[in-house]
Amino acid sequence: MSAAAAPAGAVKVDTTLNPLVASVKPSKTMALTDLATSMKESGIDVIGLAAGEPDFDTPAAIVEAGVAALRQGYTRYTPNTGTSALRKAICKKLKEDNGLEYSPDEIVVSNGAKQSIWQAVLATCSPGDEVVIPAPYWVSYTEMARLANATPVVVPTTPEQGFLMSPQQLEAALTPKSRLLILCTPSNPTGAVYPKEHLEALAAVIAKHPRLLVLSDEIYEYITYAPATHVSFGALPGMFERTLTVNGFSKAYAMTGWRLGYLAAPKHYAKAAAIIQSQSTSGASSISQQAALAALALGPGGGEPVQAMVRAFRERRDYVSARLKAIPGVNLAEPAGAFYVLPEMSAFFGPGAAAQGFGAVPDSDTFCRYLIEVANVAVVPGDAFGADSCIRISYAASLETLGKALDRIAAALDPAVYTLRTDRQ
Ligand SMILES: Cc1ncc(COP(=O)(O)O)c(C=O)c1O
Repeated sequence: MSAAAAPAGAVKVDTTLNPLVASVKPSKTMALTDLATSMKESGIDVIGLAAGEPDFDTPAAIVEAGVAALRQGYTRYTPNTGTSALRKAICKKLKEDNGLEYSPDEIVVSNGAKQSIWQAVLATCSPGDEVVIPAPYWVSYTEMARLANATPVVVPTTPEQGFLMSPQQLEAALTPKSRLLILCTPSNPTGAVYPKEHLEALAAVIAKHPRLLVLSDEIYEYITYAPATHVSFGALPGMFERTLTVNGFSKAYAMTGWRLGYLAAPKHYAKAAAIIQSQSTSGASSISQQAALAALALGPGGGEPVQAMVRAFRERRDYVSARLKAIPGVNLAEPAGAFYVLPEMSAFFGPGAAAQGFGAVPDSDTFCRYLIEVANVAVVPGDAFGADSCIRISYAASLETLGKALDRIAAALDPAVYTLRTDRQ
């Protein structure tokens, strides 16, 4: 009898899933990172530049605070929305760094910013509402909107406009059903940082729409390269009451595994997110919350430990950008923040594009398969971010690793072995 066959007379279990599951795409960044890991385990020297996490260790002072928390018995449940010490410290940070005046009962600490965003979407969107998302976007925004039974409305932007949605584009995308605009600055995947005047111009459009809220994902805030500066959307005149600010510890403090992020929002919305959290995960890790207090104590911009990482990211950004721009056919808007580049690579796939010994390369998915199989470099196809003409390369890796990866990419795209698409030349 095969394993699948039920014994005679047994009741066949109904395996139907919630239709929402079928409407959601699994995360491609995670799938590619897993593929690179399994290739590495089978002995292939793959360079993984797909994951969205710093390659640095968590700064020592934060680790020590985590260890001390364990030793001192901070091992019990915390209040649902986070310890009052942490929520107060977050309010101080938001006031001093961002000019945002929240009270501790307007803060909800969660297991990562991802949970904070999900709860904010779920708390604010009713079935049929529209969630406006400038593309290229972080992979989870559209899928979270779908999971909340809302409809993602994607606004495409190009490298020529620096991947910044214009006020006119926003205006054209808004309807009476628009409920939430998700802004991510600095952006994953583009690295674009919205300048203050640009945000003010968007705010002028938003101010005309009483139903429209803004979710401002500021998780890459500290990873901003001067002269670019980070501006919190909620700090703009008239925007506080309609803005839900999300931030966290994963990227700035290299704390991805500690799972800690937060939502800061007017009480009405914070309370709604807290209710959702109270009936799902409850409070975040007590140990991580103690460690986060030490992180915030490092000072504005994360102090020297974070600034040292930012300097390293900047050097890598410069290196990777220069190497990519030297490859004919690559179109790159140089990023001003985060740790990704999103080169526009459409010359390399489409009609006529082909690689020797590999075959035709019709789209970004096939292009990235070519890079991983032949160059042994894992990067993410742009279609995961609503930008099929691009690929995303994370430069959260050492300069030595990046040098090796770019040597391999340049060799794999050399005109001797690679034919560009023919309908453009
Ligand atoms: C734009 C953006 N927002 C939120 C998150 C979630 O971060 P966390 O690790 O805090 O859940 C990520 C992580 O990749 C991200 O890139």
